Amino acid sequence: MYYPDELVEEVRMKNDIVDVISGYVRLQKKGANHFGLCPFHNEKSPSFSVSGGKQMYYCFGCGAGGNVFTFIMNYENYTFAEAVKMLADRAGVNLPEVEYSEEMRKKDGYRSRLLEVNKEAAKYFYYQLRSRQGEIGYRYLAGRSLSKETMQKFGLGFANVSSNDLVQYLRSKGYTDELMQEAGLAGFDEKYGMHDKFWNRVMFPIQDINHRVIGFGGRVMGDAKPKYLNSPETMVFDKSRNLYGLNFARTSRQSHVILCEGYMDVIAMHQAGFTQAVASLGTSFTSGQANLLKRYVKDVLLAYDSDGAGVKAALRAIGILKETGLSGRVINMEPYKDPDEFIKNLGTEAFKERLEQAENSFFFEIRMMEREYDLKDPESKTAFHREIARKLCGFSEEVERENYVQAVAERYHISVDNLRKLVVSYAAQTGLVSPVTRPKSGLAAKKNTPEENRKKSQRLLITWITEEPGIYPKIAKYITPEDFTEELYRKVADRLFEGLSKGEYNPAAIISMFMDEEEQREAAALFNTKLTELETKQEREKALHDIVYTVKKNSYEYYSGRIGAEISAVNQVIAGKKALEELSKTHISLDE
Ligand code: CTP
Ligand code: MN
Repeated sequence: MYYPDELVEEVRMKNDIVDVISGYVRLQKKGANHFGLCPFHNEKSPSFSVSGGKQMYYCFGCGAGGNVFTFIMNYENYTFAEAVKMLADRAGVNLPEVEYSEEMRKKDGYRSRLLEVNKEAAKYFYYQLRSRQGEIGYRYLAGRSLSKETMQKFGLGFANVSSNDLVQYLRSKGYTDELMQEAGLAGFDEKYGMHDKFWNRVMFPIQDINHRVIGFGGRVMGDAKPKYLNSPETMVFDKSRNLYGLNFARTSRQSHVILCEGYMDVIAMHQAGFTQAVASLGTSFTSGQANLLKRYVKDVLLAYDSDGAGVKAALRAIGILKETGLSGRVINMEPYKDPDEFIKNLGTEAFKERLEQAENSFFFEIRMMEREYDLKDPESKTAFHREIARKLCGFSEEVERENYVQAVAERYHISVDNLRKLVVSYAAQTGLVSPVTRPKSGLAAKKNTPEENRKKSQRLLITWITEEPGIYPKIAKYITPEDFTEELYRKVADRLFEGLSKGEYNPAAIISMFMDEEEQREAAALFNTKLTELETKQEREKALHDIVYTVKKNSYEYYSGRIGAEISAVNQVIAGKKALEELSKTHISLDE
């Protein structure tokens, strides 16, 4: 963060969150909060809440949350600095010009240094592609029908044949060899010294949802191997939690995304106007990515290659989507291999038709299964029908299962009654396979792990204190930040308690402590746990006592298990024991 904290805080305080968000979302006042339709995922009834008191927003549906900066960053795809700038302008606060001085760079965290060096490398590759030595790369991309604008939009670049010009360039900009290596941009060996990781390749910068460059993919221009070289995972590049193209796709305002296999597919699709296309990052699709998509859409249309490997990958992805609660459909690309080829040959309109005809993932799975059976052979055919029945057992909801039974029976000319019988007998043997259910964030989950329970009670306590800062003095002698065993929770408690002990109350400022968007979401969730509504003072006092006691007890047990591993654990255990004894005979009063 390149502005002084006090200034950031001033900007934040001069932008009332209800005012700002009202400019984007229709809000209605309900009790202490305002509610509206969440702009970060699709929904029909409002679960997006904005609190004027806390100066925070939180969506009970998708878990999006944060303060006014987080909102602007997410909505506008801005970096933190850009969000500060926009809100400063809005409130008429003057910001100093910022420069990335050596001094500031040192002060910044490792994360932002990684982001910076990636950005600088992306710039370098970008200019290379547009200069004399990059002509060969430019011609390659143009030969694959990419326009100048498309190359610009995706920030495509070129890495020279020369073996260490990027290293030289980055050194001249003041970056250390160590950082270049850690970012995966350069390597070191005894024979060649520092050398570029990417050379003689067209470069695809990989951006996160805020358009920050977090890594690269580089493609050879011919048939050499490996075809693609990718940056390694780093602190800013988590391949299982980012998607290529999502920075654009999330604002495409479509109710679905198109999931492709490769970078080139995504780019070709965007160029053809399908700006809802994304791809995983040289690895197979993960549940982290499915969760990311779930923030924006309900439907995922798969545009995987139509070859054997593509089908296998699609089947795998369908499973992950289902587990995440997303519906998947499969786009038929035949007779072409992938969306890139399809669009080139048949054009946009034809692809639009294919989108509309995308096949329900269940039927796709059955159709792929069918290929393995010989339906002319009664035995094989029976085996196929059994497999269908087995798959139908995967629908735990009766209505849905019945609908599929009927649809499949019709499609494969099986008698509905027979198929139903088969399903019943199969279910009787094995029990219905119920799909994995994952608790929705913000709602009470039934079967929690002990760790999840521990975290939950800590969240409840933080939320309660945030909603009623008056209780802090009453519990301060029992609870300290160390009782929050989750690192992020502890940081939040530390700041919150420090402020409260001085009579200051400013939860939204705490969100700004966290650079990372996931951390901001998590911190916001911490302030927005659903508290049970309790009628009487007695009930409330008892509930508070329970929570305080539980948090303390968990912390006591946690530190007891760490004696020997952590020096301070002993002190925590002793203090914890004393506090627990005291608590067990003390009543916490909510009287003024
Ligand atoms: N990939 C990779 N390393 C390879 C091959 C592929 O990381 N050696 C990843 C890349 O992310 C690539 C994706 O897998 O985008 C799909 O592979 P492929 O279909 O071979 O690449 P395309 O993106 O279709 O590229 P092109 O059309 O240029 O062949
Ligand atoms: Mn491909």
